[in-house]
This record gives sequence, C-alpha cells and structure tokens, in this order.
Amino acid sequence: MRGIGRVAVATATVLGVSLCMGLALAGEPAQKSIRNGVFTAEQVAAGKQVFADVCSECHTSDTFGPDYMEGWAGATVGELFAELQATMPYESPGTLEDVEYASVIVYLFSMNGVAAGESELPTDVTALYDINIEGPFTWNGSNR
Ligand code: HEC
Repeated sequence: MRGIGRVAVATATVLGVSLCMGLALAGEPAQKSIRNGVFTAEQVAAGKQVFADVCSECHTSDTFGPDYMEGWAGATVGELFAELQATMPYESPGTLEDVEYASVIVYLFSMNGVAAGESELPTDVTALYDINIEGPFTWNGSNR
C-alpha cells in the first residue's frame, strides 16, 4: 500500500505541474521584441528589393535611420505595419502584399542594427501586435 501511495502522490504532482503550465499557456501570449531574432536574413533581402523597386522612387533609405526608429520604440510591429499599409506607397496606399510590407519593415530594422534570426516574421498583422519595437538603434544601412 505504501508503494501505491507514493505513486499517487507522484501522479498528483505531475498533474499539478501540467495544470500550472496549462494555465500559464492559456494566459496572455508573451510579448516578444524585435531583438529576439524574429525575422530572417532572407526577409531582409526581400525587403531591400521592395524598397529599391517601390519606396526608393521617393525615399532614400537613410531617411529611416535611428532617429526615425526611435520614434517607434515602445510601439509594436503591428502598429508600424498598419501605419505603412495605410499611408504607403504615398500615391497608392495598401497596394503591396502583406508579405512585402513585412519584409520592407524588417529591412528598416536591419539597417538600424537589429539582428536577423531563425524565425520568419509573421505576415499576419494580429501576430505582429505581439512584437515590440525596441532599441537601441545604430545605423548599419550601408551594409544592407
Ligand atoms: C510616390 C512617393 C512615395 C513612395 C513610392 C513611397 N513614399 Fe513614403 N512618403 C512619401 C511622402 C510624400 C511622405 C510624407 C508624408 C506626410 O508627411 O504626410 C512619406 C512618408 C513616409 C513615412 C513616414 C515618415 C515619417 O516622417 O514618419 C514612411 C515610414 C514611409 N514614407 C515609408 C515608405 C515605404 C516603406 C515605402 C515603400 C513601400 C514608401 N514610403 C513609398 C512618399 C512616398
């Protein structure tokens, strides 16, 4: 009987731990930051191309250096995405694909010293609201 009792206690402990983990997972999704390797180098390269094809008609990339980026610190990638989609390209807002807005955004991050990583930036705007824009930003644009 003592042996069975111990098994019961162990089982209860395992259940208790899984329950806690379950509750933690069911809560608010953890807020991530652009500093957590949330986009890939391939997305940066694609964004550079979008910038060259579309944005460079009116902008030089150094318009979007650290001073510009600091203005977005504390906001989320979702907010930046929504703003760009609503306003750019200037004469035809919203005409790019979601994947193009996402990649041009990570190109801007990359030019400001934010490192690429293993995971792709989602193009689903809802998920982008869970990622914070966070400095410090240092100009790296000439290498991008
Ligand atoms: C046809 C010209 C044109 C094109 C193409 C264009 N923009 Fe713009 N952009 C402008 C103008 C003009 C403004 C200033 C708008 C204002 O102040 O109301 C601006 C403003 C911006 C701003 C806001 C800058 C600030 O002061 O905060 C961002 C960011 C931006 N553009 C990004 C882009 C990106 C990214 C692309 C490519 C997808 C793009 N633009 C394409 C003309 C353009």
